[in-house]
Amino acid sequence: MSQDHISIDEQARAILRGNDRGGYTVPTAGLYPYQWNWDSAFAAWGFAQFDIDRAWAELETLFAGQWPSGMVPHILFHKPDPGYFPGPDVWGAQDKGTTPSSGISQPPVAASFARAVYEKDPAAGEPRLRALFTRMVDWHRWFMDWRSDGGAIFITHPWEAGRDNAPDWDEAMAAIDPVGVGEYTRRDTSHVDPAMRPTKEDYDRYIWLVQRGRRLDWDDAALAKDRPFMVADPTMTFILLRANRDLAALADLLGEDRGEIDSWTARLEAGAARLKGEDGVFDAINLTTGHHTGNVSCASFLCWYAGLESDVMLDELRQAFDASPYPIPSHKVGTEIFNPKRYWRGPTWAIINALIGRGLAEMGHKPEAEKLRLLTRELIARHGFAEYFNPLNGDPAGGGTFTWTAAVWLAWASPSAEAS
Ligand code: GLC
Repeated sequence: MSQDHISIDEQARAILRGNDRGGYTVPTAGLYPYQWNWDSAFAAWGFAQFDIDRAWAELETLFAGQWPSGMVPHILFHKPDPGYFPGPDVWGAQDKGTTPSSGISQPPVAASFARAVYEKDPAAGEPRLRALFTRMVDWHRWFMDWRSDGGAIFITHPWEAGRDNAPDWDEAMAAIDPVGVGEYTRRDTSHVDPAMRPTKEDYDRYIWLVQRGRRLDWDDAALAKDRPFMVADPTMTFILLRANRDLAALADLLGEDRGEIDSWTARLEAGAARLKGEDGVFDAINLTTGHHTGNVSCASFLCWYAGLESDVMLDELRQAFDASPYPIPSHKVGTEIFNPKRYWRGPTWAIINALIGRGLAEMGHKPEAEKLRLLTRELIARHGFAEYFNPLNGDPAGGGTFTWTAAVWLAWASPSAEAS
């Protein structure tokens, strides 16, 4: 492995360099030709393993796209690209920030990775961190103002969670009648096998929700009046809770006040507790009906990353290790919904594994953390830098030469990451 991993490290660095468009990376050429929010934060973590300056630049470009409201968009459309749909003209948010963008956000992993980048080289990082700090606080405040239901963070569009077609949204999506959505041409299915992508029914509703946002000019207060889609999400809630803890630590480092940040942490802890269903599993809640989804998704296992212990989830973790050679599946293996190829309805995602693994290690579950890291290492070493993987046999799926899979390799899965 040791010879091999050096060359895999080189490939991973080459992917980050190759996907670099000057201050930001694209997730992969073709399928995703712009800057995506949480992809960029992972990219920064990857770059930090060999180029600190470039790591900071990635985060700085992301936050340069922040809206005056504090929201940091899920896509920044730096340069027009006809190969992607829905582009800036569909979102209609060209004038909201300094860069044309989408109108929704994505899981706020940025403060956590800013901390990780800072820790790699505190002296070089201090001024860069200081310049970003207020922007990160403003973004977290925006979540607490506009996406919090008693501290449970909800999404207003499936894309906001970063888990586009997860079964967690099925009930809420089914309640939408995408009337008047009109004709449009998808581009994703010309890059990737349609069996690995969301369905047409899903897409109609994704676009319908975008059209509604555009109609309301992406005005937070107008959008909040009646929400056709509102699902409390473990991805968002756990990731924001964790990022908020990191932000408080960064406030201490910089000598900034952390009082407001700590008040959010307390609210988020209360919200996270609400995500526990009757069976003790952390899942999503359709806030329109109050129904817990009952789904064990990869996001359910982010509890440790958020600093929360759960025996029920530890038991689920053991089951996940037994159920497939390459966990953690995005939806539980053996259930009726599980589909090993279709995006967030079964496949394994290296980025989520990295977050789960870090959380497990920090909460004292070292053997489980190490097992997950070794399985993810084997998965990437054997099957390449795919967007996601079939948990049953490791087959690569979706796009290739993927930025965040390369980043996770360098920062966490590679044997070289142990030394860092
Ligand atoms: C897909 C993923 C999302 C990611 C984006 C770019 O939409 O579901 O999480 O950010 O692709 O990689």
